[in-house]
Amino acid sequence: MFKRITGTKDILPGEVSAWQRIEEIARNTFPLYNYKEIRLPLIEEAALFNRSLGEEAEVVKKQMFLIQRDHDTLALRPEATASVVRSYIENSLDKVQGFAKFYYIGAMFRAERPQRGRLRQFHHIGCEAIGSAQPQLDAEIISLADKLLKNFSVSGHRIRINSLGCPDDKKKLTQILKKSLGDNTSKLCQDCQERFQGNILRILDCKNESCKEIVAKLDIGQKHLCGACIGHFRQVTTVLDMLGVEYIVDDHLVRGLDYYTRTVFEISHPGLGAQDAIGAGGRYDNLVKQLGGSDQPAVGFAFGVERVLLVSADKVQGVSDKLVYIIPLGEEARQESMILLNELRQQGICADTDYLGKSLKGAMRQADSMGVKYAVIIGDNELKNKTVMLKNMKSGEQKELGRTALVKELSGN
Ligand code: HAM
Repeated sequence: MFKRITGTKDILPGEVSAWQRIEEIARNTFPLYNYKEIRLPLIEEAALFNRSLGEEAEVVKKQMFLIQRDHDTLALRPEATASVVRSYIENSLDKVQGFAKFYYIGAMFRAERPQRGRLRQFHHIGCEAIGSAQPQLDAEIISLADKLLKNFSVSGHRIRINSLGCPDDKKKLTQILKKSLGDNTSKLCQDCQERFQGNILRILDCKNESCKEIVAKLDIGQKHLCGACIGHFRQVTTVLDMLGVEYIVDDHLVRGLDYYTRTVFEISHPGLGAQDAIGAGGRYDNLVKQLGGSDQPAVGFAFGVERVLLVSADKVQGVSDKLVYIIPLGEEARQESMILLNELRQQGICADTDYLGKSLKGAMRQADSMGVKYAVIIGDNELKNKTVMLKNMKSGEQKELGRTALVKELSGN
């Protein structure tokens, strides 16, 4: 027997309604903010991610699913921001429209150690706004993330924001950290000792207890920020206040991907346990240029859909309450039921029948367990009278009807 690959999930029909609900909310919410859907390949040149996320990023170093084909190294996309930027440049959207807003829904792949809320194939709902450096746009993005979560029936989440500053500020932040961590380097975990050389910012969100203790004592503040970046950040928080979005400024917040500049944010939820980030994002003002495009600042975020579903209060059940279930009794009724099924479906009514030849009692039990609202019984009497028996499964009420009356009755449901 074959088994699914570790860290992947089968989303069975009973769970799909919950996914569809989240996706539908996203599809209804993004257009209110003028974000347009973009659908991109699941495979890209691996170098796209090496360049965008950084060679030292954990995702690149340890988690990419790579495919070697002839001389090409391809990767299953670990995230979509780099792909959106690649597409924006490749399709000359910077020349056609300059400022552009995109949203996407789709599978991402990271070879992480699977645990609750951490998969190797997971799904993002995310968006990117490319072509503006205005702080109001950062605030729109953060408030949109908050709005989406509320629409997903998620509450109790916490938004942390910070500013990494421009590339010069990031260098300054690196120096500040090097200096302040200096004496404690040997007390850091093995991974952080490596990060000290290659990706020191990541030490700030190491989950190791002794690293957390050392990091908690660091006074980082906003010393690394230049005047322009302080001004930018202030405007972001001012607009968030105006919009009533609750957030916490956390000077220890950094992100694991290299492309971020200025505003970064992460949204966590206490119901998620160890993997408590439900979504995250920020500015990446240099990525478009770095990947060969024009100088276009950008900002975006992505949610992990599996994590949204873990904490969404609205648990949609996969019930078939729109389905009409036809129960034919006997061979002739079975033939007749095919015509009726066809008629109902042509009228846009979801309909199915018992294909197992169950007894009336067995078929009714089946209809009940499927959560069906109406059963339509065709027995000898009904065949003779050219009628059907319509049974409301909730109230138990039943009535004999002609075909036309049946379609009319069911059309309103
Ligand atoms: P990220 O923080 O790597 O950011 O991923 C965003 C969200 O995806 C996380 O907060 C988490 O909810 C979910 N996620 C990440 N890895 C996994 C996993 N292995 N299993 C389940 N869920 C996971 C990005 O990917 C950026 N591209 C976000 C962004 C968009 N920044 C700017 N624009």
